[in-house]
Amino acid sequence: MLILGIESTCDETAAAVVEDGILIHSNVVSSQMDLHRPFGGVVPEIAARRHLELIEPVVDAALQGRSVDAVAVAQGPGLLGALLVGLNFAKGLALGWKKPLIGINHVEAHLYAAIMTHPEEVRYPALGVVVSGGHTALVKINAVGTYQLIGATVDDAAGEAFDKVAALLGLPYPGGPEVEKLAKQGDPNRISLKAGQVKGRPFDFSFSGIKTNVLYAAKGQSASRNDPLLLNAQARADLAAAFQEAALGDIFRKAQLAAKEFECHSILLGGGVTQNQRLRELFQGASVPVLWPSRDLLLDNAAMIAGLAYPYSQKGPLPDGLALLPQPRMPLRFK
Ligand code: KG4
Ligand code: ZN
Repeated sequence: MLILGIESTCDETAAAVVEDGILIHSNVVSSQMDLHRPFGGVVPEIAARRHLELIEPVVDAALQGRSVDAVAVAQGPGLLGALLVGLNFAKGLALGWKKPLIGINHVEAHLYAAIMTHPEEVRYPALGVVVSGGHTALVKINAVGTYQLIGATVDDAAGEAFDKVAALLGLPYPGGPEVEKLAKQGDPNRISLKAGQVKGRPFDFSFSGIKTNVLYAAKGQSASRNDPLLLNAQARADLAAAFQEAALGDIFRKAQLAAKEFECHSILLGGGVTQNQRLRELFQGASVPVLWPSRDLLLDNAAMIAGLAYPYSQKGPLPDGLALLPQPRMPLRFK
């Protein structure tokens, strides 16, 4: 079964054709990053307008004349205007082709990215670790589609914390890769930083406190965001390293603890922060096998959307695709 996937939740316009949930025939991603960089973050209205310009050529490039058996689209979570472009384009295709339309949760698709990369190696129940720009969560995966939420962030997402810390250190958007690069030149032990803990909830995350501590370390006690940096180059790199170590160490420790407590037999990671090499090093210390998405499935893409649609297409009758609405805050369905 060939499925066309469409992704437009944030600042990537993407389309892909995937066979039977696993075999990627095409995976086209057009990033708008350069367009948003001058603003230090994604501007929703600009993103929506750019999706509108890109969606048709990107879908054409993914299809290359192929016909497909179904259309899948990221229905949420994401930016409303951006979601509307992908969803309406997908509805038009499904209507014209008389094919089913499957609405997919973008965060769930990030977890599926590791599953479609290693279909034979996943051992259930698995612990899903989502670390993206918009989401940070620990999820027990009993099977594709059957989840239990173990922990989530109570404030900033992991990638968001990297982006905000990058901005404080004068680095461009998106900040994750920039912080990682700078951290390589720093010593994480010269400055003491700790990720936040949530009282009575050992698997929840809090990154807003550590971000404030970075602000004070970089610009002085009680400084505000736009004050000048007080650090020399080495101290700036040390601060980046200390932040990275504290944030990623916290994610690893909580994931490891959750895998034990909830008797998970493998750990699956997903979301943009999985690009970080230090995160990979830390997870080498895990007590169960750790599975990462292939390189082209790490950042936002449509192959993971088309991939996840396959198991749903096999589960029985689908809801009416033409009635799907964008869901900016779409929750994972927990069972
Ligand atoms: O999954 P993703 O492409 O988009 C969302 O669904 O949010 O993740 C993007 C996030 C950004 O916040 C970016 O800074 C972060 O992933 N990121 C990284 C790295 N590369 C990307 N964070 C830390 N280290 C990296 N190397
Ligand atoms: Zn994403």
